[in-house]
Amino acid sequence: MDAAMPDEIIVPDWESYRMDFQHPHVQLEAPEREVAIVDAVLRELVVRGILPHTRYDHDRFLHHRDAVARDFEIPWTAITPRQQRLMYAINAIARPRRMLAAGVFCGFTFISNAGAGVGPGSCYEAEALVGVEIRPEEAERAERNVRRIDPTGVARIVAADAVDVAAEWAGDLDLLYLDADGDAARGKAIYLDILRACERSLVSGGLVLAHNSVNCAERLAPYLDWVRDSANMRASVNVIIDDQGLEVSQR
Ligand SMILES: C[S@@+](CC[C@H](N)C(=O)[O-])C[C@H]1O[C@@H](n2cnc3c(N)ncnc32)[C@H](O)[C@@H]1O
Repeated sequence: MDAAMPDEIIVPDWESYRMDFQHPHVQLEAPEREVAIVDAVLRELVVRGILPHTRYDHDRFLHHRDAVARDFEIPWTAITPRQQRLMYAINAIARPRRMLAAGVFCGFTFISNAGAGVGPGSCYEAEALVGVEIRPEEAERAERNVRRIDPTGVARIVAADAVDVAAEWAGDLDLLYLDADGDAARGKAIYLDILRACERSLVSGGLVLAHNSVNCAERLAPYLDWVRDSANMRASVNVIIDDQGLEVSQR
């Protein structure tokens, strides 16, 4: 992909589709519309060869969504219901056995990915789904939240710097989810450091999902340039379903 012309999947109402960060479980549109929008994105990801098909179990997703709404303590989040469904669906379809999520805060973003592999929305057998959070008190809260819906320990939270965990990752990595906001100097630019640190582990066909590809595009410019360069990633597309965005890239 030419870095000057980024590939995009845009939903027309992305700017007006807004959530209240303090009330993440409020539905913002008719369920059929949310399903249709996510299905349309999945079809576009199939066209680009990023996903093999668009099928995921909608009832299992709703079991997952209900369990998270009931059991998770979430002080705030910018993960919209569309984004939650999209992350779950991508994971349900791609079925990463080994997943690393960087910068998970209270765990909501993490479980939106990992919920396809553990808990009441689980639809495949995962091996290790690891969330990393640098602030110990948030890592503890995230771990408490995750344990409530996954008693197995397949999904777990580590209190650490995601760059270090990525660098020390042993074995294959099937999916990397990026959401860390770094320190004052780097901010979200830390995404590229995390990706480069575990690049060697990312399997061919492995996915990298990067939240905030729209509202943090400026800070993420070096990261976006890198994943959009076909010398580095086979494909990369900016999925604009809300005002946050998700860059979906494939090794
Ligand atoms: C802003 S939150 C992500 C919130 C998420 N987008 C949502 O809407 O729910 C980013 C998290 O990354 C964490 N973080 C920042 N730098 C990190 C690093 N180097 N390693 C791991 N976590 C990090 C922060 O402590 C914070 O909890």
